Amino acid sequence: MSLLQVRGVSKIYGTLTALSSADMVVDDHEFHGLIGPNGSGKSTLLKCLAGAEIPTAGTIHLAGKDITMLTPQERSRAGLSLKFQITAILPEIAVYDNMLIALQAHQSIWGLLRSSSRDSLHAEVIHYLDRFRLRERQYDLAGELSHGQQQWLEIAMALALKPRLLLLDEPTAGMSPQERRATGELLQPIKAQCSLLIVEHDLDFIKDICDSLTVLDQGQIIASGRTQDVQNDARVKEVYLAHV
Ligand SMILES: Nc1ncnc2c1ncn2[C@@H]1O[C@H](COP(=O)(O)OP(=O)(O)OP(=O)(O)O)[C@@H](O)[C@H]1O
Ligand SMILES: [Mg+2]
Repeated sequence: MSLLQVRGVSKIYGTLTALSSADMVVDDHEFHGLIGPNGSGKSTLLKCLAGAEIPTAGTIHLAGKDITMLTPQERSRAGLSLKFQITAILPEIAVYDNMLIALQAHQSIWGLLRSSSRDSLHAEVIHYLDRFRLRERQYDLAGELSHGQQQWLEIAMALALKPRLLLLDEPTAGMSPQERRATGELLQPIKAQCSLLIVEHDLDFIKDICDSLTVLDQGQIIASGRTQDVQNDARVKEVYLAHV
């Protein structure tokens, strides 16, 4: 059984069909890229998955559970995590404390009161800061980090929820080429932990890191499957030559 199953999901705003009967699957430990021209429905699909929008039609299953009508908080408990909406960094407090708050959000109040769990939380904070190359900046305010580092902190905080599926909407937007390359490297190890559904405009970046791709055009999925196959799909080539 696939981790994520999207069946016939549509989203209609007034007279505009932003997403039309979308079908796709994401497996465990798979990196799945969602691409398509501006306005093709990528963010709408992510919002439907995360619960920021309720689809007009269709169903969404996560690990076999129907999450179509659940609140974002209930989806988060079911194993979904979204950078931007569930965790946003707090610029006025230290990098360390941002990470600590994200990890505490996952703990019960009783767990938080036990000193042993406070020690293990510290170890976990350092573990995540190390992984995302932020340990040296732990005492700095999060607002003082570079744009790229702030994105990494947000990804680390989203991962602290221990999701089965992490959703990222254009995480490398506004990054320098070096930060973009580093982001690819930083994301790779999370494959051992969870699956990733990522929206990106940078095709080279997404082809490098993703096992599978889904391509949207004007609200319709025109191809979905292994990266290699989708890349060579005649309709995908046509859309990209025409729009991008
Ligand atoms: N809340 C809304 N109300 C009305 N129309 C909307 C709303 N959200 C999105 N749309 C429309 O739905 C369509 C798909 O938008 P969406 O944001 O999903 O595209 P996208 O593929 O993420 O584009 P981009 O690459 O520019 O981020 C667009 O025509 C957009 O104007
Ligand atoms: Mg978008």
